[in-house]
Amino acid sequence: MTVPLIERFRDRLPVGAETPIVSLGEGSTPLLPAPRLSERLGVELWLKWEPANPSGSYKDRGMTVAVSKALERGASAVICASTGNTAASAAAYAARAGIRALVLQPEGAVASGKLAQSLMHGARVLEVRGSFDDALAAARALAERGTHALVNSLNPHRLEGQKTAVFEIVDELGAVPDVFVVPYGGGGNTVSYAKGLSELAERARLVSVQAADRRRTVASAIRIAEPAHREVVASLDVEISTVTDAQILEAWAQLAKLEGLFCEPSSAAGLAALTLDPPRGARVVATITGHGLKDPDAAARVAPEPLVVDPDPDAIAAAAAGA
Ligand code: F0G
Repeated sequence: MTVPLIERFRDRLPVGAETPIVSLGEGSTPLLPAPRLSERLGVELWLKWEPANPSGSYKDRGMTVAVSKALERGASAVICASTGNTAASAAAYAARAGIRALVLQPEGAVASGKLAQSLMHGARVLEVRGSFDDALAAARALAERGTHALVNSLNPHRLEGQKTAVFEIVDELGAVPDVFVVPYGGGGNTVSYAKGLSELAERARLVSVQAADRRRTVASAIRIAEPAHREVVASLDVEISTVTDAQILEAWAQLAKLEGLFCEPSSAAGLAALTLDPPRGARVVATITGHGLKDPDAAARVAPEPLVVDPDPDAIAAAAAGA
């Protein structure tokens, strides 16, 4: 049986014997070598494959802790604003816990796979007229009324859970890598990685990569104008890197074609930054945050449509040769 993240890291998490554990078998995700990209970039690249989490993104690490703690305090409902992954994760863990989830998402801006997840888990999904930032402000205001526990990464339990990715990486490599690279949306994950490193009393370069046009990026997961954790990120020893949509899409396609890993576009932001400025000779861990199946429309925009053929071997051979 998969060991729940909370059990694996119990001594480093704010849980006690009385905390009810809400788990879907999160964490303990693969750390994969990336031989082709490593050769191209002149680095030793490892990929922390977070889509292997139960809802398909790294959010489950924090959500298992946040929902367990909410349940411990007697909450009967959680609320979040989300570009989709936090929502899918909150909806899944709320369903598991037997409590309600209220999701506020920017109208028309959430990838179809993520929305399908939230709906199937029975969350109440509301589309807010406005941006993610508007939805987050509303979620915070509602949470203050005391009816719902906020499970955005402003909830410190989320960050506690997410720091465990660093523990796993260091465990598995047997040492701290030279560089960690993560995408930068609201900054919660960046702060978590810094926390994980500091709790291990280790140092490494931590590179957090944002979209050049935060308000309009194709990477909808990180379409956040005002990162909630901006000030904390600025106070930490973190390098901020900025990449264009074209660079994100190029890195995204390369990961799929060269390494056989299909992530969502935002997850490739870190790789895009590495491609621009590879730290040659360094051991680098890039965290791939979410699964490509969450955003099939993004793939349809860049990949060619399949040809339609008759079930005739000659026609198929001819069509295949033309590919
Ligand atoms: N990658 C993915 C796949 C995400 O969904 C997010 C954020 C990030 C990276 C950025 O992480 O915010 O901790 O800096 N998604 C949030 C959501 C905003 O609502 O699902 P961050």
